[in-house]
Amino acid sequence: MVPLSLIEKLQNVKHLVVLTGAGVSAESGVPTFRDALTGLWANYNAERLASETGFLADPALVWGWYEWRRRRVLHAQPNLAHTTIAQLAIQVPELTLITQNVDDLHERAGSKDVIHLHGSLHQPRCFICETAYVIPEETVQDIQLNQESSIEPPRCSLCGEPVRPGVVWFGEQLPAKAWQLAQRASQYCDLLMIIGTSGLVWPAANLPYLANQAGIPIVQINPEKSSFNSIASYNLCGKAGELLPQLYTAAFTPVG
Ligand code: OAD
Repeated sequence: MVPLSLIEKLQNVKHLVVLTGAGVSAESGVPTFRDALTGLWANYNAERLASETGFLADPALVWGWYEWRRRRVLHAQPNLAHTTIAQLAIQVPELTLITQNVDDLHERAGSKDVIHLHGSLHQPRCFICETAYVIPEETVQDIQLNQESSIEPPRCSLCGEPVRPGVVWFGEQLPAKAWQLAQRASQYCDLLMIIGTSGLVWPAANLPYLANQAGIPIVQINPEKSSFNSIASYNLCGKAGELLPQLYTAAFTPVG
């Protein structure tokens, strides 16, 4: 059951901020990071695969792993959580969508101006000069990849140095503009919705605390407890692809 006071808040919201994590893409078949059996960091070494040091030590291992992940995303489809968030943006006066995800499933569900705090699997760039690199799909489609495929990274067309995945690695700064927009929206919205994140990665995890300090109500959707349970006014326990459509229907479908 969706609490009546939450339905009313959603019906009257002026600026809704939605912060998503890997859980929002879980029902599309994209693995999360910290779920005990299936999470990427339960099965792979984050230091080797998601850091500058790891890339310098073995660029082919790192490029191959991200290519495997990117191809999984290309074959995945947005789920009901992604599409409901896109519909919410049409219903409410203003919606800011902030994601920690490096997939493009929000965009493919119709969301616009998504703030990507952790970069994108689909925007690789030169490791040295940062020139954007476009992966030629016709060449990669044919190669069968698994998560341990080593693939030499392509070379930058300008300077000839290796191309790196366009994601934020451990120890790196978040993209400045995205982070600034995310902090501002989290402090000045009138409802913050946190969906499918463990809240263990900083500074992204600070956004709900900024909202809480500003007295903004928080609603969380997650089948498990997260570090945000204590500051959320509403903890909806369940899958995003099930609970979000219920919430949307309760708030925006006319009765009778
Ligand atoms: P985590 O893997 O840490 O957390 C995923 C959360 O999603 C957990 O709290 C799950 O309980 C929840 N979850 C699982 N299935 C769900 C579902 N169907 N509906 C709703 N929630 C569900 O992923 P993140 O919090 O996103 O960083 O991780 C944050 C960052 O850590 C990632 O962006 C990534 C990683 O290192 C980078 O790639 C830079």
